[in-house]
Amino acid sequence: MTCAAPTARAADLLDGKAFALQLREKVGALARDFQARAGRKAGLAVVLVGDDPASQVYVGSKGKATLAANMNSFEHRLPDDVAGEELLALIAQLNSDPAVDGILVQLPLPAHLDEQAVIAAISPDKDVDGFHVINAGRLSVGQAGFVPCTPLGCMMLLTDRLGDLSGLEAVVIGRSNIVGKPMAQLLLDANATVTIAHSQTKNLPEVVRRADIVVAAVGRAEMIGRDWIKPGATVIDVGINRLPPAGGEAKGRLVGDVAFDEVREVAGAITPVPGGVGPMTIAVLLRNTLVAAHRNAGIALAENAL
Ligand code: GUN
Repeated sequence: MTCAAPTARAADLLDGKAFALQLREKVGALARDFQARAGRKAGLAVVLVGDDPASQVYVGSKGKATLAANMNSFEHRLPDDVAGEELLALIAQLNSDPAVDGILVQLPLPAHLDEQAVIAAISPDKDVDGFHVINAGRLSVGQAGFVPCTPLGCMMLLTDRLGDLSGLEAVVIGRSNIVGKPMAQLLLDANATVTIAHSQTKNLPEVVRRADIVVAAVGRAEMIGRDWIKPGATVIDVGINRLPPAGGEAKGRLVGDVAFDEVREVAGAITPVPGGVGPMTIAVLLRNTLVAAHRNAGIALAENAL
């Protein structure tokens, strides 16, 4: 008689798509209440410079999602070679426009533009991306501000799955201003024990194996393998990487930073790519815009409403 090898138990999938849809519906309902109370809709302005195809897709999706959530969407498209002064003038105009609650300048910008100067020009009270140094500082000292959308979306998925994160070991792989650093800050605020790992970290797989929570935000396709993961860990994959086309494919597959099929066999829960973290980013952007609208209009929004 042959004995079948024990089959590995597959991790639960963290369905960011479904979670994001619920959040968008909640935002939509509260945006309707906001309109009734403020006598106007909340508004998000999105600025796109140039014609990068991926950025065009993102901006188009953001605009549609904003309208679907009962908010106004103001889209501004500028040519690739726009002068810095012209972009700054547009931001100044949006800063003083009372119909605009949130401003997002799609990144990356063309090389001739100074990204930091552009972000610094956005009013911190309309900075729904949470990229302005004032908002980074507020997050770091625990003041209310705007938190970058992707890490906040990851936190929502984590607390929904795990509840209290106190005392858990979290390893964030990647130290960008947009994901890694704010992610680590949010985990620290939730009383996790946090390590930020990066390209210079020694013994990276060993460091990651300590983690109850792994957040991968490195931008390298399927880098994190099965033997990096402690059995039962919760794995959040922020990466979106396109593989080269395989035989017969017009476009390569989209994959994360985590080797999904193998890690799924050891993790307790994992976000898929696509359909995990990605949809959360837009949902949180809408959430941040609605929060901005309430603050700008001086209307209270119930604590924990979103
Ligand atoms: N480019 C890729 N992701 C983002 C984002 O979250 N915000 C902005 N402004 N640009 C991006």
